[in-house]
Amino acid sequence: MSEERNLTWHASTITKDLRHRKNEHKSAILWFTGLSGAGKSSIANAVSLKLFDESIQHFVLDGDNVRHGLNKDLGFSEEDRKENIRRIGEVAKLFIDSGQFAITAFISPFQEDRNDVRELVEEDEFIEIHVKCSLAECEKRDPKGLYKKVKQGEIKNFTGIDSPYEAPESPEIVVDAENDSVEACSDQIIAYLREQQYI
Ligand code: PPS
Repeated sequence: MSEERNLTWHASTITKDLRHRKNEHKSAILWFTGLSGAGKSSIANAVSLKLFDESIQHFVLDGDNVRHGLNKDLGFSEEDRKENIRRIGEVAKLFIDSGQFAITAFISPFQEDRNDVRELVEEDEFIEIHVKCSLAECEKRDPKGLYKKVKQGEIKNFTGIDSPYEAPESPEIVVDAENDSVEACSDQIIAYLREQQYI
């Protein structure tokens, strides 16, 4: 395929391994998944702050933000969500190769799409984090007023309402975002990274 398209892969002089040694930490994708309003962005940013304070290289890729630029051509059909996640996965992989943690906060409702991203990287480089919160609680919180708009018929194909959400089958981490604070959830994730010797 690559040969037909006259493409050649160039190996980097500075390898991922060299970057890990220099940084004194590994790199991986922290893949947050959960309903709208579950707390993905808040917890992702709390984790980011803790990593930043320890000079650990990382970057947060967030649903709404990425859809303003890289993925502004995509909507919320099943096909577009799939392409959304595929592109994010490829970008996250670049962050890993650059020796950083990629923290991704997308609904990513389909297990198959999340599995495809897992397949892109090494086994220990994909950490799936289920930000668990019931639909009833997300609707109650409604931080962006989107559930209200859904009820008024202004938004269609909304995750958890008229578009499916498939909870992770075997995530590395489950945070109880319904009952635990953002602080507690982010502490749990940092503790995991330490226990598994990523940091
Ligand atoms: S997905 O399913 O992974 O492709 O979605 P994502 O890129 O994370 O974008 C989700 C944010 O887009 C807003 N939004 C919607 N979400 C779900 N369904 C529909 N139809 C929809 N329309 C707009 C919403 O702000 C989501 O952000 P979060 O932070 O999850 O609330």
